[in-house]
Amino acid sequence: MRLSRYLAHGGISSRRGAEELIRDGRVTVAGEVVTDPARDVDEDSSVRFDGKQVRPVEQPVVIALNKPKGVVSTAKDTHDRPTVVTLIGAKRRLYPVGRLDADTTGLILLTDDGELANRLTHPRYGVPKTYRATVAKAPIKEEALERLRTGVELEDGMTAPAEAKRVAPDKIELIIREGKKRQVRRMLEEVGHPVKSLQRVAFGPLKLDLGEGAFRQLTKVEIERLRSTPGAFQQPKREAKRPPRKRR
Ligand code: URA
Repeated sequence: MRLSRYLAHGGISSRRGAEELIRDGRVTVAGEVVTDPARDVDEDSSVRFDGKQVRPVEQPVVIALNKPKGVVSTAKDTHDRPTVVTLIGAKRRLYPVGRLDADTTGLILLTDDGELANRLTHPRYGVPKTYRATVAKAPIKEEALERLRTGVELEDGMTAPAEAKRVAPDKIELIIREGKKRQVRRMLEEVGHPVKSLQRVAFGPLKLDLGEGAFRQLTKVEIERLRSTPGAFQQPKREAKRPPRKRR
């Protein structure tokens, strides 16, 4: 890569700033001052800035996988079932971003970027996740859709309002911004339509575009889009303040 880019990746300065530093003669490659920002270098080129070795920061990796049925989305499984991690067989240590039930198919992300994973899964950021479900007891009733849009009482509390659309008499598209355990299945069961099959078709701005079992690395642009458009809430929602403790 270009020397100026290498310095920028190494956290020395912006790319434009790096060009100036190079022209000022503060950068050496294999012991020699180089003033051409376009010089081609890599990790083995021994690039130094003001005498100090520059190593490029590793770029985070984000993989999108269309998870098949029967594969678990934890990093390890106690029952020796295949996991999303073993399925992609990456050389780097990657972690699933959130969970999908073993029975659920569709889009799941894996990454080594902990901060990004947190932004995508913490309920305070409200990243929308889109699911398509085929349900029993069709046709889906308007009343059920309304309940989903208002919020459904589950045993661990009320759900936030979901976006719910009937796409066929027995198929529903549901967008939720939380991640309670088996949330979609429990919501649909609660409104009278138990799930027969469930697929996640989008995660934030990212749509499922892979065949079952297929995976691919996200581009830099896709990663930036994920990072900067986490749903409806750009700002984290304020957490409720705890009442002050009473003094004894
Ligand atoms: N909701 C569910 O019920 N299951 C999933 O896998 C994801 C969301």
